[in-house]
Amino acid sequence: MTPNRRQFLTAAGLAGLGAAVGPGVAAAPAKASATVDASEQQVAFFGQHQAGIATTTQGYVQFVALDLMSDAASDLRGVLRELSEAAGRLTAGQPVGPMQTGDSPPVDTGEALGLGPARLTVTFGLGPKLFDRVGLGARRPAPLVELPSFTGEQLDSSICGGDIGIQLCADDPQVAFHAAHDLTRLATPTAAPRWSLSGWGPTLNSRGRPTPRNLMGFKDGTRNIMRQEVGALERFVWARAPESPAWMHDGSYMVVRRIEMLFDHWDSISLDQQQQTFGRYKQSGAPLGERREFAPLDLHKRSHGSLTIPRDAHIRLASPEYNHGKRLLRRGYSYVDGVERGGDSVAGGLLFICYQRDPRDQFIPIQRRLANYDNLSQHIVHVGSAIFACPPGAARGSYVGAGLFS
Ligand code: HEM
Repeated sequence: MTPNRRQFLTAAGLAGLGAAVGPGVAAAPAKASATVDASEQQVAFFGQHQAGIATTTQGYVQFVALDLMSDAASDLRGVLRELSEAAGRLTAGQPVGPMQTGDSPPVDTGEALGLGPARLTVTFGLGPKLFDRVGLGARRPAPLVELPSFTGEQLDSSICGGDIGIQLCADDPQVAFHAAHDLTRLATPTAAPRWSLSGWGPTLNSRGRPTPRNLMGFKDGTRNIMRQEVGALERFVWARAPESPAWMHDGSYMVVRRIEMLFDHWDSISLDQQQQTFGRYKQSGAPLGERREFAPLDLHKRSHGSLTIPRDAHIRLASPEYNHGKRLLRRGYSYVDGVERGGDSVAGGLLFICYQRDPRDQFIPIQRRLANYDNLSQHIVHVGSAIFACPPGAARGSYVGAGLFS
């Protein structure tokens, strides 16, 4: 962060910054007061768990991975504190700092003025390489392993990894972008952006809402862990002893995979082949052989002598029944970016984000099985990858990751 911006934040006391925005810009944005009930649109940043994990998925994501430009634990601590404070303001629909700063550039870049909080959540994670680098190797949680390589992946290192992962979700894409933009500016020069991606069309994670479709046209999230499943969140999502240290208690581990869909190939196969690939009907989302989307899976069911849900169908191989009962909380978003390499289609796919209690028991073995046997593998390619430990939520006045330094 430049001295000027740091000075202004300190001078403004970091509170009531709405009043410091500058002439002609009200603290409570005009549109917010006219059309948006800010309290309904606000998701609390401070609390037991970080928001953005078991929060009902918002319409849009902006993901940013930053690299720490320093080897000092004090710099990591400083940047986490500063970003948490700013996230507290952004999620309340406030600017990160003043716009009227004399000859210096505005601290808040202004593109979200008047848009309200839009259910913005900011979720921070720490990458595995960070711990040794800042002399905290002994505090690295055991579940935070480097991901192994998987069959068929074609990872591009420029869109992999990162020391600090920030998932920003909101019901307005500009609110999510603004948060990413201003948090990245605040982190500079202590941390610099490594990769970033925006997306829309979230995986379902809450009962009673229609299931969104992914870019292959299938409903995504039908058998996800729903935010109402408190027992499943406890068992499969929140970090717990003995595998996680006390400072991670109530946190989680986030795996991010940028998965490109090979539309040229996918668009050339029949509806029946597409449905066999997933093991569900495209239109209704029901498992093959069933009529209702949320009908239970019967993985033993046979029709005309063969398994109704094929042996290599995505939902069979990803199911808890095939993975020692293990489940994941998926929070993926669709993205598009450029043109398919060597193909005739736009390039796009799924920014697959999942949360879990221990990736060594959940994402890694599930993905190993999918990479080797899933029929879907011939229609997708994993090109980006990252893993982060997401500490528990911060108490008001504290910051995300504080427990790491105590
Ligand atoms: C582009 C890649 C992917 C696409 C398009 C995709 C799509 C889908 C769809 C349509 C379903 C069925 C509906 C549902 O229950 O959500 C599903 C289920 C599931 N997927 Fe994926 N998925 C992809 C990658 C992955 C990956 C990488 C993993 C984990 C390593 C994964 C794990 C799961 C799980 C756990 C289920 C629920 C299975 C069940 O219990 O029924 N998926 N996916």
